[in-house]
Parts: sequence; C-alpha cells; structure tokens
Amino acid sequence: MREISTELLAWYDAHARVMPWRVGPADRAAGVRPDPYRVWLSEVMLQQTTVATVRDYFRKFTSIWPTVADLAAAKDADVMAAWAGLGYYARARNLLKCARAVVADHGGEFPTTRAELLTLPGIGPYTAAAISSIAFDEASTVVDGNVERVMARLHDVHTPLPRAKAELTEIAERYTPALRPGDYAQAVMDLGATICSPRSPACGICPLREPCVARVEGTAAELPKKEPKKPKPTRLGTAYVALREDGALLLETRPDKGLLGGMLGWPTTDWSDAPAPNPPFEADWQSLSAEARHTFTHFHLILGIEVARVPLTATSERGDFRPRGAFRPSDLPTVMRKVYDLVQNEIEAAEGMHG
Ligand code: ADE
Repeated sequence: MREISTELLAWYDAHARVMPWRVGPADRAAGVRPDPYRVWLSEVMLQQTTVATVRDYFRKFTSIWPTVADLAAAKDADVMAAWAGLGYYARARNLLKCARAVVADHGGEFPTTRAELLTLPGIGPYTAAAISSIAFDEASTVVDGNVERVMARLHDVHTPLPRAKAELTEIAERYTPALRPGDYAQAVMDLGATICSPRSPACGICPLREPCVARVEGTAAELPKKEPKKPKPTRLGTAYVALREDGALLLETRPDKGLLGGMLGWPTTDWSDAPAPNPPFEADWQSLSAEARHTFTHFHLILGIEVARVPLTATSERGDFRPRGAFRPSDLPTVMRKVYDLVQNEIEAAEGMHG
C-alpha cells in the first residue's frame, strides 16, 4: 500500500476544493505559491466559521484591502465593520494589529517559519502551522477539527476530545510529508470537510478506506468521542434604541476590552442574571414585546429592547446619533443586528397601522 500522504496528495490533485485563496492545480504543478497574505486572512476567518461564509468575507476584504500594507493602513472602524457578522471580534482587532506588525517589523513581508509567525499578534499554533506549510512549504503539522476527526478514525482512537488532542496531533505529525506539506494539510482538511464528515462519512469513496481502522471496526461515525459539554448559562440584558425624529439612531462603539470589543452597537445594560436598567438618557422608553436571542461561545443572551422616539434636540452622554445615511445595518455584529431587525419590524407594523 502507498503512504498515507501519497494517497492523500493524489486525491487532493484530483479533488481539491476550489477556494479564492488557493492556487489552482495547473499553477500548483508549475510551482506557483499562494500569497501568504491571502492564506493568513483565510485561515483567521476559517477559525470561526464555514468555508461557505468565509468566501464572501474574504472577497470583500481582499477587494477593499488587496495587500497586507493596505489592510495595515485601514481605519479600525472600517475593518471592524467589514468583519461584522463573522463573530469573535477580538480576532478582527488582532488581524489589524498583525497586519501593522508585518508592515512595521517585517517590511511588509510575512515571516516564513512557524516560529517567527508565532511571534505575531493573533497568530497561534494553528495559524502559524497553516501559513508556514501552505504558503512556504515548511513541514509543520496543521491540526484543526477536521484533522482530529480523520486521525481519530484512521487509528480508531476512542479517547475523548479534548483529552485526545496530544495523541491525535502526534499521529498527524507522523504522516506529515517533507514534500508538499501544505497541500497535504489542505488535503486532510478537505477530506474531513467532504468525505470524512462528522455524521455520515462516505467511507466507500475515501482514499484512506484501506488503512482506516475505524472503517473496519464500524466505529467511524461515532469518532472522535467528545467529553460532555457543560451547559451554557443564560444572561439577560436590555438594548436601548433611540430613534430621532429625522431617522438618526443612537449607536456607540463598544470599548476594545470585552465582548464585541470595538464593534458598533446599541447602548445596553450589562449582561448578567439581574441587570439594572441603564438607559443612555431620560426619555419615554417603551418596551418592545420581542426579545433578541443570541448564543455566544460561553453563554446564551436574551436582550429585551426599549425604544424611544426623541426630538432633534435630544443629547446623550453615551454614543452618537448617526444619520440614517451614515449607518449600515450590516456594520453591526449579529446580536445588535437582530435587535435592529426586530425594531424595524415594529416600526413598519406601526406605520402600517397609522397610515
Ligand atoms: N479549513 C481551515 N483552513 C482550511 C484550508 N486551508 N483548507 C480547507 N479547509 C480549511
């Protein structure tokens, strides 16, 4: 039987998914390397969501900021707005810090080794391994959820995650080839995302069906095992939407520290078991019957909504009134966007009733 990596690379050459940050098969064969900026950007984005979602954000970012120098020169608020909806907003702030460090400390060129990449803001072991192998063909081992699943099945590892992490990493390291490690890493990830999928793996067409122990044992679909998760607590809060008579809306940029740091949003109370009311200013606040529900990594949030229609003379210590034309709902992080959509429905319903 051929080596696992040989098998996977042959499969990748025939079946690699087409992605805007990848080099196509003809160029790859001619030795063209992917642009490290595009590899970095795509890998940071891919850590929070699916390839399907990332495609659009990736296109938006690379059309506005085609190089790392362009991104480094961007305004913070523009980058945060472009990232809105992707989640994990600390990543967007680190993205900008990293771009600026590449320009300031590395002459605008990404370092080429895993060790040097690790010194940059926001680049952890996963991203450093991915960039060094995919963009620079360093034989570093990339381990994400897909790789863990493929390795757990290949060796029929029943130890639950996260405890199994070291063991699965060690197996993945053993198979990483010296030649084409970047394509190999992407091959394992593509295999995990398409054939060796979480619930119903397509073992019949898998290039690793012969060496795969879980396939023989019939355990593939139940691997990798996972430690039971702790249930998430629910926190409560209130969002205040002040609607000025000219259509302007009161929005604030949230402090850099903490959840949704640096993002635009409605003023809110704190989010806790029993938040104290905290409107941005005195007004005739009316409760909306609908609530916005959103799940973060560590908790569920239920936000009540209060709306006030206020005159042109209204002022607020917190936030600024933004004219309708200077505000795009798509600039809001998802939970704040949910609030906007609910308020919007209510306004339309009220307008429908009165005129
Ligand atoms: N998931 C994260 N990075 C990936 C990549 N480079 N190829 C395929 N899937 C991925």
